[in-house]
Amino acid sequence: KQQKLAVLFKSACVIPVLTIDRLDDAIPLARALVAGGVRTLEVTLRTPVAVEAAKAIIANVSDAVVGIGTILNANDLSSAEALGAHFGISPGATPELLKAAAASPLPFAPGIATASELMQALAHGFDLVKFFPAEQSGGIKALRALAGPFPNARFCPTGGIGEANAASWLAEPNVVAVGGSWLCSAADIRSGNWAGITAMSERAMKSLKP
Ligand code: 3PG
Repeated sequence: KQQKLAVLFKSACVIPVLTIDRLDDAIPLARALVAGGVRTLEVTLRTPVAVEAAKAIIANVSDAVVGIGTILNANDLSSAEALGAHFGISPGATPELLKAAAASPLPFAPGIATASELMQALAHGFDLVKFFPAEQSGGIKALRALAGPFPNARFCPTGGIGEANAASWLAEPNVVAVGGSWLCSAADIRSGNWAGITAMSERAMKSLKP
């Protein structure tokens, strides 16, 4: 299942982090991203409507590949599985979550920011991890340092990544995709700037996707 996730992330290249406050925004937001060529979406479990929003996207936007983010515990993981998510992502990990994720069929990328956290993830079979918060944890230099002792680890850096630095991250050999909220800011969602989101997505795909 980790191999499946690596293929999925690689083809995604950019994974927008969606924080949806109003259920009515879910479908137009997902359609706007997909229209710009961004199909793989992370719906974060950070708002009361997150689960319903993810379900609505899965049911109505057939080209979207929906993952669930901000999975903090085994319960969140079960919700992600139950709603039919394609994958799960967490900002960090606990022993309980890693154990549950290892036993689950859901492809999963745990969050790590240090060597010890990466070792925990690898010990549970997770060699594709979210590097979070990427810029704040030392940026590309930190990622390169981790590549030394952990040559098999692959990363989806997220946190502080945007139009200006996404290409540099993606040029790292152990980076399979980058995540970030820059394609769908809270302001753009609030104002329903779907055309702007599509345009930004198109631009990102054009310049970043090989
Ligand atoms: C995440 O949860 O992955 C981050 O909040 C996204 O970080 P960004 O807002 O800096 O892109």
